[in-house]
Amino acid sequence: MTTKLTELRAPFPWFGGKSRVAALIWERLGEVKNYVEPFAGSLAVLLGSPRVANAETVNDLDGFIANFWRALAQHPEEVAEYADWPVNENDLSARHAWLVQRREELQSRLEGDPEFCDTKIAGWWVWGLCCWIGSGWCSGKGPWHVVDGKLVREPQHAGTGSNRVLPHLGRRRGVNRQLPHLGRRRGVNRQLPLLEWFEALATRLRRVRVCCGDWSRVLGPSPTTTLGLTGVVLDPPYDTSMRCDSCYSVDAQGLSAKVREWAIEHGDDPKMRIALCGYEGEHEMPSTWSVVSWKALGGYSNRSASGRGRANSFKERVWFSPHCLKIHVQEQEQVEEAQLSCL
Ligand SMILES: C[S@@+](CC[C@H](N)C(=O)[O-])C[C@H]1O[C@@H](n2cnc3c(N)ncnc32)[C@H](O)[C@@H]1O
Repeated sequence: MTTKLTELRAPFPWFGGKSRVAALIWERLGEVKNYVEPFAGSLAVLLGSPRVANAETVNDLDGFIANFWRALAQHPEEVAEYADWPVNENDLSARHAWLVQRREELQSRLEGDPEFCDTKIAGWWVWGLCCWIGSGWCSGKGPWHVVDGKLVREPQHAGTGSNRVLPHLGRRRGVNRQLPHLGRRRGVNRQLPLLEWFEALATRLRRVRVCCGDWSRVLGPSPTTTLGLTGVVLDPPYDTSMRCDSCYSVDAQGLSAKVREWAIEHGDDPKMRIALCGYEGEHEMPSTWSVVSWKALGGYSNRSASGRGRANSFKERVWFSPHCLKIHVQEQEQVEEAQLSCL
């Protein structure tokens, strides 16, 4: 069975995921030769693209994300094997602690070796992310540590270990949606939906360059306009004054303002089409930029500690640079209606 290009989805939920606005963004970016997504997360915009650009580069500072996409592209079967596991509270705590212990080394190995990836970390990470409720998965900000093979609470070292939550026992999301079909099957039965899904993603990602580091590293001339007309989607963590501050494992105050500055500085370049995501009032852009409002589902963000998800879902905006394609107001209304009717 072949999956249509735009039907591909990440196998995990992600705070601030842009799948609902991806089609609208592509209407404005149009056919670009080169595509860069410096805040990759669940890759919703790349996966929503109706076509594959000559060059595509994605990046995220979170090593677990970069490792997952790298590992999936290279070894979908191994990642599926590790991700294929039922919901189990003890496994969740133990694997969480195991992953957190590897966090720093993972980051440096990804940065040091362009081919490095760890399929076990990728599979366990995505499995746990889909069992986990709310923020904090693999953030490394919790009081639980492994001492002599036992998970113990050490409040004096809170902030360096793992945290614990009851696993997600309701409607299943991400890889766990597939659990009824899973098991360690052999031979023809190994053609499982999960494996098919991962292989379809691997095929899509085969030529995508995955980077792990600060966003600014993939926005110099060589990964952008040197390669021709470039579409850039900037979806940084929104300003911390407007959302929960524990959504992402990597985050920084003032980041969204720096990203805005970069966008304004490069917005007039005719070889750039830039989309900048944020909340209403977050970015004051030059009058040559246009802005579109859209409504997020608010579902996953609702689980955030601040509980601001639903209110914020009405404040979503995307600003488009002057060289993005214009669409007629009527068409724009239709696109927005289509987004809303999906809700
Ligand atoms: C709003 S999310 C992106 C969501 C993504 N567009 C999607 O559809 O799933 C922001 C992402 O930026 C990443 N991030 C945070 N600080 C970063 C930085 N300095 N450089 C690169 N990525 C960063 C986070 O790990 C997170 O995945």
